Amino acid sequence: MLELDDIQSGVLRPRPGPYAATYIALRIDDRRAGRELMSRVSRVVTSAANPTSPLADTWVSVALTYQGLKALGVPQQSLDSFAWEFRQGMASRAKELGDIGESGPENWEKPLGTSDVHVIIVAVSPDEERLEAALAPARKTYQSIDGIEAIWRQNCHALPDDKEPFGFRDGISHPAIEGSGIPGSNPKEQPLKAGEFVLGYPDEMGGVQKTEPELLGRNGTYVVFRKLHQRVADFRRYLNTNTKSSEEGELLAAKMMGRWRSGAPLALCPFHDDPELGADPKRNNNFLFEQDDPAGFKTPGGSHIRRTNPRDAAIAGVARIHRMIRRGTAYGPLLPEGVLDDDGADRGLMFAFVGAHIGRQFEFVQSQWVNDGVFFGAGDDKDPIIGSGGSGNNFTVPRRPVRRRCQGIQRFVKTRGGEYCFMPGLSALRWLAELET
Ligand code: HEM
Repeated sequence: MLELDDIQSGVLRPRPGPYAATYIALRIDDRRAGRELMSRVSRVVTSAANPTSPLADTWVSVALTYQGLKALGVPQQSLDSFAWEFRQGMASRAKELGDIGESGPENWEKPLGTSDVHVIIVAVSPDEERLEAALAPARKTYQSIDGIEAIWRQNCHALPDDKEPFGFRDGISHPAIEGSGIPGSNPKEQPLKAGEFVLGYPDEMGGVQKTEPELLGRNGTYVVFRKLHQRVADFRRYLNTNTKSSEEGELLAAKMMGRWRSGAPLALCPFHDDPELGADPKRNNNFLFEQDDPAGFKTPGGSHIRRTNPRDAAIAGVARIHRMIRRGTAYGPLLPEGVLDDDGADRGLMFAFVGAHIGRQFEFVQSQWVNDGVFFGAGDDKDPIIGSGGSGNNFTVPRRPVRRRCQGIQRFVKTRGGEYCFMPGLSALRWLAELET
């Protein structure tokens, strides 16, 4: 059984919908102050055992970068026991992640990707009022400690119908995790071993990830934050320019995503949107690919959802070892319906990955499934929604009598920054608070 009372709530519980959220980055200038912070936040953070906290669906989570663990004075032997990719940090992994050119760390929003980001506090709530109520004690916690500096903040809020800025319903597909008591969204998917998402438990390959000391990693997980700017006007113009009618444009958009705007999956309604299905959590993720649609005539192999979770489709490799929990929240103003010109506003997604294996889960999906097509026999084709652009950004829509080939799709999503973090269990937070070196 998972020790739910030691695991941070944000790891296992899907975010509320609608939501308001805030991300705050802190720098630790003094290790004693950092330890005091850990002690105080360990009292503010809610555990996954608490499905109905006094603040209902509200929770505060805390995560540390590798630089943050160093700033707290965690001994080198312990630091070395964390995953290699985490120790490198996201900015050092830019080439592998396709963060090049304008998406490169040299162009990121500061201080993201610098050694100044030590702690990230995330608060999520069903509305602004309850968010503020949850944030107030957390804010008091860090503001009253000398030697802790708040250096960055990002507010996020739900868009209507839980859509992301391109206009598709988000937050639908979640894996089920053995022992969590929280159901997944696809009844056809076997629950995954807890060790895929939480350190200290067996994973799908039979391994157990441990740190030195074991308590530091146990019940913790890795979290990847990425601030992703979305070029909504460009996306709309692309659909307009490359189709003859708005119906055809919507079909192309759905083929690129693998779902209609409402969230209804092409796998279950390939010819037209079905908003009732899209909004029904019992049905909108209840499908596999291989038997019904091996060649992708309904859901193209290159679409965003089939790339990032091929389910049972025939691919090179095993999909189950590359799964992830997602906690994305939208930021910035909505681009009004029908507007095709960029208004210069910054809008997009604060993408958040949760998983026990940054390398074989997040990095693998980003580099092999999003920015390459070899795994399903599509050469160097890329994800048409979030692919890194350039000459290989091609997308194929299988069709009879002839397939449709979209070539040289521009980059619709730009990386504005991000961090690899570790979200410790509650006992580990207290361990960090009590460090004496
Ligand atoms: C701005 C960038 C992104 C946008 C607009 C976006 C949008 C979406 C949408 C609308 C869905 C379908 C709804 C759902 O199942 O929740 C989805 C699913 C998903 N996305 Fe993204 N996404 C983005 C970035 C990413 C990134 C960076 C990754 C991973 C590297 C990723 C991985 C996934 C996964 C694993 C799924 C679930 C697939 C499934 O199980 O069917 N997404 N995304």
